[in-house]
Amino acid sequence: KTYDVAVVGATGAVGETMLSILAERDFPVGNIYPLASSRSAGKTIEFKGQQVEIQDLATFDFSKVQIGLFSAGGSISAEYAPKAAEAGCVVIDNTSHFRYDEDIPLVVPEVNPQAVAGYTRRNIIANPNCSTIQMLVALKPLHEAATIERINVATYQAVSGSGKEAIDELATQTANLLNGKPVECEAYPKQIAFNCLPHIDVFLDNGYTKEEMKMVWETQKIFGDDSILVNPTAVRVPVFFGHSEAVHIETREKLTEAKARELLSQFEGIEVLDDREPGGYPTAVTEAATHDPVYVGRIREDISHPRGLNLWVVADNVRKGAALNSVQIAELLIREYI
Ligand code: A2P
Repeated sequence: KTYDVAVVGATGAVGETMLSILAERDFPVGNIYPLASSRSAGKTIEFKGQQVEIQDLATFDFSKVQIGLFSAGGSISAEYAPKAAEAGCVVIDNTSHFRYDEDIPLVVPEVNPQAVAGYTRRNIIANPNCSTIQMLVALKPLHEAATIERINVATYQAVSGSGKEAIDELATQTANLLNGKPVECEAYPKQIAFNCLPHIDVFLDNGYTKEEMKMVWETQKIFGDDSILVNPTAVRVPVFFGHSEAVHIETREKLTEAKARELLSQFEGIEVLDDREPGGYPTAVTEAATHDPVYVGRIREDISHPRGLNLWVVADNVRKGAALNSVQIAELLIREYI
């Protein structure tokens, strides 16, 4: 059996990766429909070695497909995902637009696969925020064993999370600065090359950014526990691909670092790299970029808290943080439901 699939935002950083992951995992695709804006319609894009024509999202008939992978921005999903769902297509949406609706499942397949069942209510499943996905994959086995009460996290997020324009901006600023030329800032309000910006998405009334609050809301929804406390700081760093996170947890039961290492090593989707020597830890460029696992290192007991544990968590934000997680949701959907 095969499924006809539309990829919305197929020319974007995440959309292109969705196409390549569908091909590389041999997802049973019948017809593939890459969709983007009218600017891209008529151009072609590669899928499984073939050139496929890009179609205009605005005029596409979603009754032709069973699955739609959306990654063209929140306002595009707001308008087109309900139309696609109405036409009988199951939408897997990578934007934040539907994530906090009670009747929309928010799914990380390694963490809460059972939630997919709720897709029938609106025919839409939301893909969580990139930083939340990799953190929760790493925390799932620890939460099951010792119940996490509180999470303190600082992120170090790659520019690819902001899309292609931001990838170009980091490259151009870097080249300009190394050649003694001035930089222009468009994708970000300050220079991103050789810099760190403690600002991702918009500022909210409580002083946190929306990216930070996504980690709070989504952790509680995915773990199904509103009592878990999360205190995030989200930082954009001059890295192209791969988010890193310094995660500190406080658990109800004491979790030794030996036990934590054992649990993490056995969990599907996690690779532990934790040799206490130079280079004995995962990084965005060397391990995570272009790879699927969530990498965990620097596992150590907190010297300032009796039930605290520290971790360094790294993953490819465009793959596990977006495209791969969406395709894994689609795989769950066809295996168990449609
Ligand atoms: P296009 O290339 O035609 O503008 P990124 O996140 O890398 O910036 O990519 C954004 C994706 O969303 C691109 O594929 C882009 O297509 C798509 N997109 C942006 N605006 C629209 C729109 N109005 N209709 C359909 N697709 C859109």
